[in-house]
Amino acid sequence: MQPSDKALVPFVSVDNMMRLIHHIGVERMITEIAAQIEDDFKRWESFDKTPRIPAHSPHGVIELMPTSDGEAYGFKYVNGHPKNTSEGLQTVTAFGLLADVYTGYPTLLTEMTMLTALRTAATSALVGKYLAPKNASTMAMIGNGAQSEFQCLAFKAMCGIDTVRLYDIESAATAKCAANLQGTGLNVLSCRSAEEAIEGAQIITTCTADKKYATILTDNMVGPGVHINAIGGDCPGKTELHRDILLRSDIFVEYPEQTRIEGEIQALDPDHPVTEMWQVITGQAEGRRDDRQITLFDSVGFAIEDFSALRYVKRAIEGTEFFEPLDMLADPDDPRDLFGMLMRAK
Ligand SMILES: NC(=O)c1ccc[n+]([C@@H]2O[C@H](COP(=O)([O-])OP(=O)(O)OC[C@H]3O[C@@H](n4cnc5c(N)ncnc54)[C@H](O)[C@@H]3O)[C@@H](O)[C@H]2O)c1
Repeated sequence: MQPSDKALVPFVSVDNMMRLIHHIGVERMITEIAAQIEDDFKRWESFDKTPRIPAHSPHGVIELMPTSDGEAYGFKYVNGHPKNTSEGLQTVTAFGLLADVYTGYPTLLTEMTMLTALRTAATSALVGKYLAPKNASTMAMIGNGAQSEFQCLAFKAMCGIDTVRLYDIESAATAKCAANLQGTGLNVLSCRSAEEAIEGAQIITTCTADKKYATILTDNMVGPGVHINAIGGDCPGKTELHRDILLRSDIFVEYPEQTRIEGEIQALDPDHPVTEMWQVITGQAEGRRDDRQITLFDSVGFAIEDFSALRYVKRAIEGTEFFEPLDMLADPDDPRDLFGMLMRAK
């Protein structure tokens, strides 16, 4: 039986997402998703917000990340399993859905593993645009796994960095990242320690995966004036920075209710002051004050960023071949005759 138009939902496979990204260009797509996130952060109050809903296990975490602006509804399914790479699997995989609030009908189903890497990089660089020292040229990139190249390219495109200093406990990961960044216009230096990686860096990105309290940066490693983009600590019991760094930093977050559960600040008192990025973006709160201040973006990843990315993709695929119509919604001739539809299919 041929599905009707009402049954069909545009579906973006991994293959089509990769073709779309190449069609637009990695740096341009990150920059455009960042602009969408910036616009959506400016209308923060119009969104339904809730900390994401996690299902923890000894193996990792599976999370649902829903939000709505009253017109569209979106959610992402995402996992975090640091042990996966040793089994030939990704630490993070994701897919997401957008729906029309008026009918409740889905309007987009898409892979989001690639898209999450783009939206995370877009968010980091957007925040960097507001908080990193002016004229920053060098970024330390600690943790050279799946997200790392996207982060480097985002900071190049949006914050003007020209040099990245890479470090990972596994030298193969650093070699992979360095090779992937060849020909992108970045100067790429591979380092043998985190201490070496941060030398002369105005921006420090930590993007490691470990299901524990790790200390990727210790207090003595962080000098005045730097911007820290801490991405990897994003689960209860999983952080990257020594607590003393937090106490010397001005801390910026996406959604405090979620970050206090999952971010670096789980190591601090529950009322420790933090600044919400949407308030910096709308000019209601101060970003970087001076060139000695340490700014810390305690990133965990919030549903509105995925919503922005989903809406971006929905627009970007219109009129293109980068999707397939998926027969996803039952559409009986008489809306109440679902059983009749089933019987006619015999
Ligand atoms: N904040 C967000 O929005 C967001 C989004 C996506 C992923 N993440 C998190 O970012 C982290 C990285 O994700 P990924 O997909 O790149 O994972 P990945 O497993 O592909 O890469 C992580 C890398 O960190 C390295 N590493 C582990 N411990 C280290 C240490 N002590 N020093 C240096 N390197 C170390 C590993 O060797 C690996 O190469 C994960 O924890 C993930 O949950 C956060």
